[in-house]
Amino acid sequence: GRSVRVALLGCGTVGSEVVRLLTEQADELGARAGAPVELAGIAVRRPDKHPELPQDLLTADAAALVESDVDVVVELVGGIEPVRSWLLTALRKGKSVVTANKALLSEYSAELSEAADAAGADLYFEAAVAGAIPLLRPLRESLAGDRITKVMGIVNGTTNFILSAMDSTGAGYAETLDEASRLGYAEADPTADVDGYDAASKAAILASLAFHSRVTAADVHREGISSVTASDIAAAKALGRTVKLLAICERVTADDGAESVSARVHPVMLERSHPLAGVGGAFNAVFVEADAAGELMFYGQGAGGAPTASAVLGDLVAVARNRVLGGRGPRESAHANLPVRPMGQT
Ligand code: HSE
Repeated sequence: GRSVRVALLGCGTVGSEVVRLLTEQADELGARAGAPVELAGIAVRRPDKHPELPQDLLTADAAALVESDVDVVVELVGGIEPVRSWLLTALRKGKSVVTANKALLSEYSAELSEAADAAGADLYFEAAVAGAIPLLRPLRESLAGDRITKVMGIVNGTTNFILSAMDSTGAGYAETLDEASRLGYAEADPTADVDGYDAASKAAILASLAFHSRVTAADVHREGISSVTASDIAAAKALGRTVKLLAICERVTADDGAESVSARVHPVMLERSHPLAGVGGAFNAVFVEADAAGELMFYGQGAGGAPTASAVLGDLVAVARNRVLGGRGPRESAHANLPVRPMGQT
């Protein structure tokens, strides 16, 4: 049969790993998808800056690539516009979208899911939260029959790398941040990491999926790590504790029984015996509590090129398979819409 044609938008740290894996594992991926998965084009801002990529696939015109004869759009550009317009166009034309764009999803996931559902297209975004860790698929699919009450964890690799290094070596904040950037964990603008915006976007995505609600980044109470000092860490140490930046999403039941959702991101002093206290480097770890399942823990590499590319490729195989078999991924636009608690209230 026909191959599944893929447009890649953006080719930085994650995108270049996607191209590498897609090329090296073409046969296996095609076998798993049920049809060859073919890279049809790669849109980058400056094609002349990418001598390492197949030149015949490169274009600077992402909008035209999206409109061309492609079945799937993989978006790794980031930011809101023009990406939002490209993805809405793709979805409205029935193309499947795979994206790692936390900022976009944490603000516009309702609009994007509605466009996807209206056109019968797939919208997958496993790579947007916790890198390589299979977490969104379990929340959307494996736990679809359960009632999730809490999602709590370390969802930003850069700040975890910084806090872990400050704890173990006493190294300064600035030099540790430089190292995190060099390793490809930090965002282009590391304020998104250190001030908690990245984690707040991820908390919004997690809370929306876990509680079938519409939580945006603006609903998340947010405090970053830029005010955490070496003496805070030393004081925590003296108490047998360590400082971690946590995202905490909860289903809250009021005295009158009314339910709502609360989401927040802030530094927490954890007992060293706490399982999250031992999570080092750019690793992420997330606890999920559900009525029937009880406690679950997800752990793995939450940032970096290859780990994040793993999640992108998993989504790509899933949407390709759905196209080949005529299936659909989970629909989000029919959410029950549990209300979101005003920011900061818990
Ligand atoms: N800057 C993010 C982090 C990348 O450090 O976790 C992964 O989303």
